[in-house]
Amino acid sequence: MSSLTVLGCMWGDEAKAKVVDFLGASADVVVRFQGGANAGHTIVSEGKKYVFHSVPSGMLYPTTRCVIAQGTVIDPFGLREEMQGLMAQGIDFSGRLFIDSRAGLVLPLHKELDSSKEEQLGKNRIGTTGKGIGPAYADQSARCGLRMGDLAHPDWLRKRLLSLYDLHGQNPDAAALDKELAALASAWEFLRGYVTEVDILLREWYLQGDSILFEGAQGTLLDVGFGTYPFVTSSHTMCGGVSTGAGFPPRWLDKVIGVYKAYGTRVGEGPFPTEIFDVTAERIRVVGNEFGTTTGRPRRIGWFDAVAAKYTADLNGLDGLAITLLDVLSGIPELKICTGYWQGDTRLPHYPSHHLDLESTQPEYLTLPGWEADIGAVNKLGKLPKAAREYLEAIQDLLERPIELVSVGKERSQTIVIN
Ligand code: GDP
Ligand code: IMO
Ligand code: MG
Repeated sequence: MSSLTVLGCMWGDEAKAKVVDFLGASADVVVRFQGGANAGHTIVSEGKKYVFHSVPSGMLYPTTRCVIAQGTVIDPFGLREEMQGLMAQGIDFSGRLFIDSRAGLVLPLHKELDSSKEEQLGKNRIGTTGKGIGPAYADQSARCGLRMGDLAHPDWLRKRLLSLYDLHGQNPDAAALDKELAALASAWEFLRGYVTEVDILLREWYLQGDSILFEGAQGTLLDVGFGTYPFVTSSHTMCGGVSTGAGFPPRWLDKVIGVYKAYGTRVGEGPFPTEIFDVTAERIRVVGNEFGTTTGRPRRIGWFDAVAAKYTADLNGLDGLAITLLDVLSGIPELKICTGYWQGDTRLPHYPSHHLDLESTQPEYLTLPGWEADIGAVNKLGKLPKAAREYLEAIQDLLERPIELVSVGKERSQTIVIN
């Protein structure tokens, strides 16, 4: 009986899936509790690449049960396509995937609203993934959204869908509505066998002694409440989201690991105080293949921000850290870690709560020597170059938590376990 929560703790793409895949070897169940197809989770196993958007990364283990919980928003067509793609790669879903009947639906309307809103915002846009996530969550909160279980009730579904269009000032003709309902019915035929009340199962499984791994999507700085609002996603990406998203009692969250990339990245708009634009940024982007998994956009690059990282470590009450993509920093002569923010001659006492304050901060840096050697084959902490160990120690000291795992390459085997 145990639960482990693995959370991205910056702006997403921290290599959560790689860590979930590594730690998932001993999990009976892997759960996605928030987000939707805005997530792009990549696992490379024996040279083969798998990309997950709404499906939990645990699906790669043939007997692991996987859950898509209430707190997610799911595009039924996108999910069907993702599952079919993974089936074609040899993954067997039967009896292993459980989708909560209360998960919110992302409809074509939400994708249209997502892109039209971004267009309206112009230079103030968020830079969303265009997957309809914000509008879908907005409708859930406004109590006019549709949910997975609604697909089982055609008359109710028609009524709710019509009312949703009406609320958004749209009036589709009967033929268009029939076409959409027929498409939804066909997606339901594919998905219905996986839909159930998963919160009940999760609590039963935990009490019967199973080990449950919660897989975060996005990152804490994209949390709708505590992130760099309004440049955030629309769900609770932080630790508390596990409980409200999965129907899992907060007191059963036994251990929480935060995943941090060894440097910073961000996709989309919003403040990023340690962002860099020079040849080092370009080098990191190329070596780290820093292009969005979901949208292909080049990711913005920056130095490790220990002020932001300490903020998210404290918010989530992290027990330990996983530091990823350390190999990407090999060959950079000098590395920087942000240790404070300045506004004029004032050193800020903590991470600012307003994005305008963040934009006007000057980072204070600790400069550390880099290392030359390729570390992709290192499997013990003691075998890392001294400078790499000192870099990790600096992060550990600044975040006041132990590093439990270091990732030095995409493959499962390229992982250093510390505890
Ligand atoms: P996630 O959304 O947090 O799961 O991360 P993504 O999958 O979007 O992005 C992480 C990328 O880094 C993926 O392409 C992984 O295959 C890759 N990756 C994971 N760990 C490492 C690592 O330690 N080193 C390198 N070079 N790449 C890694
Ligand atoms: P994973 O799980 C990185 C970002 C978008 C945009 C903002 C809002 O792979 O780490 P949204 O489509 O959610 O309304 O976009 O959030 N974003 C991500 N950035 N990784 C992700 O997921 C992201 N999901 C959303 O770029 O800035
Ligand atoms: Mg990603």
